[in-house]
Amino acid sequence: MRWRPSLLLLLSAFSLFLVGAKVTDFRICAYNVPNFNLKKASNHRALHTLTKVVSRCDICLLQHVVDSDGKAIKALLTKLNRKTYRYDGHRYNSVSSKSLGNSPSDMQQYVFIYREDRVNLTGQHQYERKQSFVREPFVVRFQSNKTEINEFILVPLHSEPAQAVEEIDRLYDVFEEVSAMWENQNVMFLGDFHAGCAYVTRNDRKRIRLYTNTSFSWLIRDREDTTVTDSTNCAYDRIVVHGQSFLKTIEPLSGKVFNIAEEFKFRKRTVLAVSDHFPVEVILKSSSLLLQATPLLLLLSVPAAVQFFLPAL
Ligand SMILES: *[C@@H]1O[C@H](CO)[C@@H](O)[C@H](O)[C@H]1NC(C)=O
Ligand SMILES: *[C@@H]1O[C@H](CO)[C@@H](O)[C@H](O)[C@H]1NC(C)=O
Ligand SMILES: *[C@@H]1O[C@H](CO)[C@@H](O)[C@H](O)[C@H]1NC(C)=O
Repeated sequence: MRWRPSLLLLLSAFSLFLVGAKVTDFRICAYNVPNFNLKKASNHRALHTLTKVVSRCDICLLQHVVDSDGKAIKALLTKLNRKTYRYDGHRYNSVSSKSLGNSPSDMQQYVFIYREDRVNLTGQHQYERKQSFVREPFVVRFQSNKTEINEFILVPLHSEPAQAVEEIDRLYDVFEEVSAMWENQNVMFLGDFHAGCAYVTRNDRKRIRLYTNTSFSWLIRDREDTTVTDSTNCAYDRIVVHGQSFLKTIEPLSGKVFNIAEEFKFRKRTVLAVSDHFPVEVILKSSSLLLQATPLLLLLSVPAAVQFFLPAL
């Protein structure tokens, strides 16, 4: 009967592998945080909620940031890097666009918050065709040896609701520009596209190249609800990827809306103090050798265990 505890040991070693696999998930998120400024960052509850959301992600795109002097983002980073929030000892950093918009009273920034120990920022590029977008995508390139894809490009968009169809369609032009510039077609588009309800109808899709061209995969489905309030049910916030090779390195069905109210057991009121949107997210497959080796290890360990423990029976 001596083999039983040993088998248990083997099983627990296997479950450790599984846990290890979970820890190395690489999560990319996009969150529209209307008017994120120093005033909002000074609201302790709002900052707490935002910190909980951002600290789940290896990269988190924040949209509608109004922080030209960088103080609000600094407050968020300080909180993220504080000991109590340093899950697994991650160090967070950020990269921000300049203030973008047509009217001085509504200037917004795109901000990417990322874990420095998990991913390298290797490029940034401000798309500049003023007539194409109200808030032109601030494109970034990241490299991470923790992901299977290794190097990829993120194109953010917080569309202007009234011209959402045209702006989403023009993301194709951004794709052509940046994929040629960096000779890399692993491009992901993310953000509040307003790609639902009255702004983008089923009929509008034939005018959007990201829909008509089958090279692009929409990872947040049309029936999802990315809004917080019960009165709206719209898939505004989206994640889209280009190409089969990128798609293959994404965890199947990992694209989802992160319902903060349910997941954190927060009241809607608490959630709404930060945003009327929920974040959306997707998981990139890990490059972990351990993970790749797991089936092999298992295959090797079973006969080894049998051979080792058989004499004891
Ligand atoms: C970041 O870049 C450095 C220098 O090229 C490299 O050694 C390191 O592995 C990279 N980090 C990740 C997480 O890929
Ligand atoms: C991956 O990146 C981390 C962080 O930069 C580094 O410590 C590690 O050595 C890298 N691993 C490989 C296989 O390059
Ligand atoms: C779709 O996009 C791809 C880029 O992957 C491009 O090569 C192809 O020409 C496009 N197809 C059409 C029909 O525009």
